[in-house]
Amino acid sequence: QANTAVKYTDSATGIIFDTWPVPNGGSQTQGGFTFGVALPSDALTTDASEFIGYLQCASKDSVNTGWCGVSLGGPMTNSLLLTAWPKGDTIYTSFRYATGYAMPDLYTGNAKLTQISSTINATHFTLVFRCQNCLQWNQNGQTGGVSTSAGFMVLGWAQAFPSPGNPTCPDQITLDQHDNGMSIFGAVLDSNAANPSYSAWAAKATKMVT
Ligand code: HEM
Repeated sequence: QANTAVKYTDSATGIIFDTWPVPNGGSQTQGGFTFGVALPSDALTTDASEFIGYLQCASKDSVNTGWCGVSLGGPMTNSLLLTAWPKGDTIYTSFRYATGYAMPDLYTGNAKLTQISSTINATHFTLVFRCQNCLQWNQNGQTGGVSTSAGFMVLGWAQAFPSPGNPTCPDQITLDQHDNGMSIFGAVLDSNAANPSYSAWAAKATKMVT
């Protein structure tokens, strides 16, 4: 997984992302894993509070299995975590926060996710989403965040083959420890990260899944 971003243009929406793919076929994870961001037009000079995310995660053997997640601070602990999984034709998400290496708690801050598109096939599930209030976090007074003007983010990811328990009830999912790879990486933001079209793209986010 390189620190340098790979430009990805979503064909359905035209949204341009900086992505940091973990290749399929590598030793780190089976099926590959990709996270990417599109940022508000001034994010490389003024710290942003939101982004549009691209998340593509691997399922094994059958459609609708597995879960994946990103840590917006890098480590699993003391960072805003976003967890996603497919069930039926829907991708569900839950914001979480962990103070130790165990099942993360529900995040109690004001992060908000709205979906732009979701795709589920036999091998992968893919979510394009707007994430508001996601780059600064506060869990009962424990604060942290990302400074997009630094031109660099530290991110983490993890993915798993078994599906969550209680999958249609995001506040009540149960997870086993991820079994298909995890990592922390430095994500360098290049000139494709922030785009004048951000507001128009963000307006495409209309679907709330709860
Ligand atoms: C790392 C446990 C859920 C993200 C780890 C490690 C453990 C662990 C033991 C360290 C492993 C090592 O260094 O070899 C668990 C358990 C979970 C869980 C028991 C649930 C029952 C999650 C979730 C996310 C996540 C939901 C993200 C949404 C990460 C990341 C790392 C990691 C990014 C690597 C960075 C680090 O070591 O802090 N996890 N985890 N985990 N986990 Fe989890």
